[in-house]
Amino acid sequence: MKDILVLGIESSCDETSVAVVKNGRDILSNVIDTQIPIHEKYGGVVPEIASRNHIEAISRVTKKALQEAKVSFGDIDVISPTYGPGLVGALLVGLSYGKALSYALNKPLVGVNHIEGHIAANYITYKELEPPFLCVLISGGNTQIINVKNYTEFEMLGKTRDDAIGEAFDKVARVVGLGYPGGPKVDKLAKEGKPNIKLPKTHFENSLDFSFSGIKTAVINYNHNNQNINKADLCASFEKAVTEVLTENVTEAIKQTGTKQVAIAGGVSANQFIRKAFLDLENKFNGLKVYMPDMKLCTDNAAMIASAGYFNYLKGNTNELDLNAVPNLKI
Ligand code: KG4
Repeated sequence: MKDILVLGIESSCDETSVAVVKNGRDILSNVIDTQIPIHEKYGGVVPEIASRNHIEAISRVTKKALQEAKVSFGDIDVISPTYGPGLVGALLVGLSYGKALSYALNKPLVGVNHIEGHIAANYITYKELEPPFLCVLISGGNTQIINVKNYTEFEMLGKTRDDAIGEAFDKVARVVGLGYPGGPKVDKLAKEGKPNIKLPKTHFENSLDFSFSGIKTAVINYNHNNQNINKADLCASFEKAVTEVLTENVTEAIKQTGTKQVAIAGGVSANQFIRKAFLDLENKFNGLKVYMPDMKLCTDNAAMIASAGYFNYLKGNTNELDLNAVPNLKI
């Protein structure tokens, strides 16, 4: 079969990224232009500033992605921009650029759900991984346990009822004065601390849903009510509590479905403590294999979008040029 090259385009939040991926699994290039230093001084992503910076970056990043892949526009078979979920103005930049390329080059357009992209990061890291499997999506906007039935069909088994886990990490980082983006900073500081502060963990009866707002509020209150707090201990305690909430629900999901494959995905899957806790599940369930994307594929990037685009293209899921951005797109 002829190789299929997909040009993936990602602009849903604060990374402008363009990638060329062969047959859904082999990265030829994955250029990521991050806006983190721009948003850092505001303590979070400013949507209007993000959109403007995507506009300034998108052509340059695309040119670089083609150069690094050593291909030209004529070699590309499919154009796959993210069309949701995300910030609407930011999404529109990558999507409009992708639609224009699709029209000008006369190549099929395959819009990609960003969440499917995060899941697909695992197909790049593990060439042998095939559905069905459970995927635990832990990112800045989502916390979900997803039954990946096949490459394009998904069933939601549990989700957060309030904050996403990444949001809780970012908020805790801000409260203890670590700055933005908080997740990696909490991860680093927690390694120096002891998890000796008791924080509440929420579980719902007969449900695989999550809640992280209680833990987050408890950290905020602890910080307000105590003097000379040990930040490292607080970070370690927070990390331990959210990890236990995650793995307890995932343990239940494994029991209910009998799955032998569990993957994690999303920015928070870069967390070292969480990665170790998921690997430990292999010792708890006979024959279970745990998958986790390469560190550079955990946070937003266009290679994972191109991978998801490839599998949707094979399924015949192409789009017309009237495809619009969908900020609250679900899986
Ligand atoms: O997947 P992502 O890049 O964007 C979304 O699609 O949401 O995830 C970003 C989130 C942020 O909340 C960031 O703080 C968190 O992932 N994150 C981490 C780590 N690296 C990134 N959280 C905990 N530990 C990390 N090492």
